[in-house]
Amino acid sequence: MGRVPGSPPALAPSCRHSEQLRQAVAGKTILITGASFGIGRAAALLLAEAGAEVLLLARSGDELAELATAIRANGGKASSYELDLSKPADLAPVAAQIRAAHPRIDIIISNAGKSIRRPVLQSGEKQDLDRLLAVNFSGPAALLLALVPRMVAQGGGQIVNVSSVSAGPPPLPRWGAYQSSKAGFDLWFKSLGTELRGRGVRVCSVYLPLVRTRMIAPTPAYRFAPALTPHEAAEAVAYALVYPKVQRVAPWWMKSLELAALLLPGPLGHLLSGLETLEFRLSRRQKR
Ligand SMILES: NC(=O)c1ccc[n+]([C@@H]2O[C@H](COP(=O)([O-])OP(=O)(O)OC[C@H]3O[C@@H](n4cnc5c(N)ncnc54)[C@H](OP(=O)(O)O)[C@@H]3O)[C@@H](O)[C@H]2O)c1
Repeated sequence: MGRVPGSPPALAPSCRHSEQLRQAVAGKTILITGASFGIGRAAALLLAEAGAEVLLLARSGDELAELATAIRANGGKASSYELDLSKPADLAPVAAQIRAAHPRIDIIISNAGKSIRRPVLQSGEKQDLDRLLAVNFSGPAALLLALVPRMVAQGGGQIVNVSSVSAGPPPLPRWGAYQSSKAGFDLWFKSLGTELRGRGVRVCSVYLPLVRTRMIAPTPAYRFAPALTPHEAAEAVAYALVYPKVQRVAPWWMKSLELAALLLPGPLGHLLSGLETLEFRLSRRQKR
């Protein structure tokens, strides 16, 4: 275990030992949401390579089918399920199909998600909060509600929430809808974990820093910021599977950030508000 050589220092704990990962997941059935792109896709490739049967879920059917074909061509086991998590009516039939096709699901990786960065006063018209709550909170929660009773009945399993360092404090300007949807789901998820611990279901939240996927592409400020590759992020998820008792996987500095928000809310809020004012003025000047 340790940092990935060549990656920015200590961005997240990760598992790079393929033998340890093989021991943890070979022969297991793992459902991965948001498997068509980015971190979910990288996790599917990593876990299939380690001998797991992967169930791939997302909206983009072509990408999922292509990924499943590539995994099978490499000797792995994969099947794909098309689902828009923001459409509750579509969820029950897909969940029933998954339950019927797979007598056992050992691990669920709740990874699908969406981010929007926009000033809060401009977000009402675009319904940012509703849209993000559907993809990042209520949709993933409904999917777990449809699948976890089976996990309990089979005697246990593991669920990993692919979350963000920004699911914790401090509250960042322009990220209100994203941050609150990720934080809300994470709290719900932990509550579920506390309820189910005695029944053999373990949960772990993986708080990722920036990861270079299509999700961060629209934010110019992130173009040159240090970021994990999707594969490195998948290795952080793998860490949670190799150490199933761990409930939190996060970069070391996340605790410092949480502590600073707790102990110095005034100065930190002042700093963030100053940065927001600067960005607001710059964007107004550019528009003129
Ligand atoms: N990138 C980062 O810097 C970063 C940092 C911290 C945490 N994260 C978290 O990591 C997770 C994966 O993000 P990523 O960076 O890999 O982004 P990504 O490349 O955009 O992938 C997002 C995945 O979620 C799926 N998805 C989006 N909306 C969906 C919907 N309505 N129904 C079903 N699936 C949906 C997408 O598939 P379809 O479009 O095919 O549906 C895609 O497979 C997210 O939960 C994100 O919050 C990302």
